[in-house]
Amino acid sequence: MADKKEKNYDNPFTATITGILDLFRKHEPAGEVKPTDRLDGKTVLVDGASSGLGFAVAVEVARRGAKVIMACRSGIPAKGEEAKRRSGSENIHMLPVDFSDLESIRKLVSDLHDQFGSIDILICNAGIVPKKSRKTSQGLEEMFMVNYFSKFVFVNLLLERGCFNLIHPRIIFVASETHRNPKEFDWDSFGVYKDYTIQKSIELYGYYKLLLTTFAVELSRRLNQGSAGFPVFALCPGPVNSNIGREAPKIFQPLMKMIFAIFFRSPEKASKPVIYLATSGDVADKTFDYLFLMSRKEVNEMAADPGNGQRLWTLSEQLQKKLDI
Ligand SMILES: NC(=O)c1ccc[n+]([C@@H]2O[C@H](COP(=O)([O-])OP(=O)(O)OC[C@H]3O[C@@H](n4cnc5c(N)ncnc54)[C@H](OP(=O)(O)O)[C@@H]3O)[C@@H](O)[C@H]2O)c1
Repeated sequence: MADKKEKNYDNPFTATITGILDLFRKHEPAGEVKPTDRLDGKTVLVDGASSGLGFAVAVEVARRGAKVIMACRSGIPAKGEEAKRRSGSENIHMLPVDFSDLESIRKLVSDLHDQFGSIDILICNAGIVPKKSRKTSQGLEEMFMVNYFSKFVFVNLLLERGCFNLIHPRIIFVASETHRNPKEFDWDSFGVYKDYTIQKSIELYGYYKLLLTTFAVELSRRLNQGSAGFPVFALCPGPVNSNIGREAPKIFQPLMKMIFAIFFRSPEKASKPVIYLATSGDVADKTFDYLFLMSRKEVNEMAADPGNGQRLWTLSEQLQKKLDI
């Protein structure tokens, strides 16, 4: 069921206040992250791992014994070397990718397949809040592409190429509570490029997180038809003191950095739900789960609706075919 109380993530100001207030609300934890929950022998791909939450997740899963593949647009090899130093693990590798470019996603899947064979856990984390719309090389809108469509393409290519080790695989999407903000789907303009400026950016961010969450639920339905065994998870880490606000107007940057530093959680703290979903035996038999901070929640009812999941999947497939990927 959707939240009874409507939250407001409409613009950068209200989204920041809502995020901070959320941290002070009482949350019943879904479980705990135990030091004994290890990932020895597992291969984990974390994307968007050059910064913020993704980097913290890469370090922590390496500490827990996983072979880690950091799929990054920037920071190669420096961020990988830093992750090795911080985790004390040498078993960290890097692959380049630009999720705004469909060809680059195809290359990532080929590189992964050729160099590493298969992965056990995929953590889809990369995301942006751009200050304005930008067209990608395939003519799509960049935030639509990075925050939603790249993930549809990436996951499906990985599945087609047999890149998942099918003994206890997991897929985890870093979504956001802002997915509860949109009132409806705009199916007619799915994938159509539109101009916008910063005022509309947060609203669209919530809309693309709704698409992502709807996709996550539908993916779990499709992967677990007949029998369970391929858990798909989504989560909101709450407000993270990361570089997500990098495109905010320069004049607001000092204030924003101060608010982030005082009120937002460090990427290490914020990574807790991701680490729980990646490592815990508590969720091993689930087909789908959604966490907000460490609390279990239902996703927005629009995202949970199978009709919406089916429609989104069909539209995404059609767009992929049109772009010939
Ligand atoms: N920060 C928050 O308060 C908050 C709250 C809820 C959810 N989230 C979600 O958490 C996730 C991580 O964000 P963050 O807060 O850690 O922000 P961040 O520090 O800005 O990290 C974002 C990551 O995404 C990567 N990325 C962006 N565009 C990319 C592209 N075209 N191709 C490949 N990688 C790309 C960035 O790579 P570069 O370093 O190369 O740019 C960076 O590694 C996002 O999905 C975000 O929506 C964040």
